[in-house]
Amino acid sequence: MQKIKTFPSKIKGRVKISGSKNASLPIVVASLLNEGKTILNNVPHITDINKLLNILKRIGINYSSKRRLVMKGEVEYQELLYPEIKEFRASYYLMGLFLALFKEVKIYAPGGCQIGQRPINFHLAGFIKAGVEVISDSNIIHLKANKLTPFCYEMPKKSLGATVNLLLLASKINGCSVIKNASTEPEVDDLMIFLNKLGIKTFRYTDMIIIYGKTKIRKKISYKIMPDRIEAMTFIALGVQSEQLIIKNINKEHLKKPLEVLVQSGLKAVIKPKKIKVYQSYLQPIKIKSGDYPEISTDQMPLFYPLFTRVKGISYFTEGIFESRFSVAEELKKTNADIKIIDKTVIIQGGKDLIGNSFIAKDLRAAATLLIEAVINGDSTIENMYYLERGYEAIYQKLKQIGLEFNVS
Ligand code: EPU
Repeated sequence: MQKIKTFPSKIKGRVKISGSKNASLPIVVASLLNEGKTILNNVPHITDINKLLNILKRIGINYSSKRRLVMKGEVEYQELLYPEIKEFRASYYLMGLFLALFKEVKIYAPGGCQIGQRPINFHLAGFIKAGVEVISDSNIIHLKANKLTPFCYEMPKKSLGATVNLLLLASKINGCSVIKNASTEPEVDDLMIFLNKLGIKTFRYTDMIIIYGKTKIRKKISYKIMPDRIEAMTFIALGVQSEQLIIKNINKEHLKKPLEVLVQSGLKAVIKPKKIKVYQSYLQPIKIKSGDYPEISTDQMPLFYPLFTRVKGISYFTEGIFESRFSVAEELKKTNADIKIIDKTVIIQGGKDLIGNSFIAKDLRAAATLLIEAVINGDSTIENMYYLERGYEAIYQKLKQIGLEFNVS
């Protein structure tokens, strides 16, 4: 869909959170390390996964029903020069996979949301440590190794994508590889649990990951993907202005920090390990900074903005991961909200009278933030809703279920 128009609605009901996008993407790719049959449950039915599956079809992988993915097939070596590769970020996990399987990959540079510079220098530096030669790294990335060796790589800064790529590569290298200053995000742990089920041995010691890879992986396994913690936060935010919202299939541990901040600010909620019941809440201003897990994630932070434009007082939101993730803060100014962006901090002076508007989403989490705004104000239009469909499963059905009056075109 392109566009949603919201109307005043009484938000109430229950909703079930889908499987995590950012855990599913690497795990679907990692399942191709396995020569046996892999069954993946809870894979969300979203555009990014569809794009990945289309690419996998081209390289010889068959799968049945999308929600309960049954993966089987032998990957055929090919140059990965398909248009879809450029359309989403996670296509770069095929670099780690192809190097692990074939010691060579030729692939278009990845795309993804424009939320700042998104270099891949850590991925390449890690690959080089394992014996990979970078033949070209511009529009077409060409990597090749004569022999892969166990490696030790310390990342200059924590990167989810680079940690995933190095885990994929190390999984097929006999011996002990080490990733230092590795990503601590739960999606990486979900991948590690999956790899362990495949018989690869991975261990985490805070931000150091150790991998004992295997050259031959042939197992019949089934795995359930973790719930999406960003989708969960989206509905929690919607719950704050609802009569009551019951959000099922969450993992409370993964939401510890954002929930702690919101509860301190006045969130009324009953929090259980897998379920949260949120009631209409009157919040106090906050001062937060996004960071590596367990801190509030950069994907979750913008979801707070529409809540705090309605809270009297000044709230501060500092971006700690990307350098220019502020397009949605600019867009929200259309509501008449008092929002300033100074360096990497969004400063919201809440409590002004706000108006509905016509918004344009420029990336996935911006679309989610604008959706929260449009639901709360009950009289807005959002264009470019296809961004939201990249990461939110059955979103229109879920919005209907919680009582939103809207139409889409
Ligand atoms: N970085 C480098 N060099 C690299 C890799 C990363 O300088 O080689 C920097 C980035 O520029 C950034 C920081 O390191 O400043 C962290 O980037 P990271 O590599 O962790 O981001 P990513 O793997 O490209 C994933 C998620 C993003 C999420 C970020 C941060 C996926 C497919 N994407 O991106 O999710 O914002 O981690 O947690 O998992 C989204 O879901 O909407 C989304 C954008």
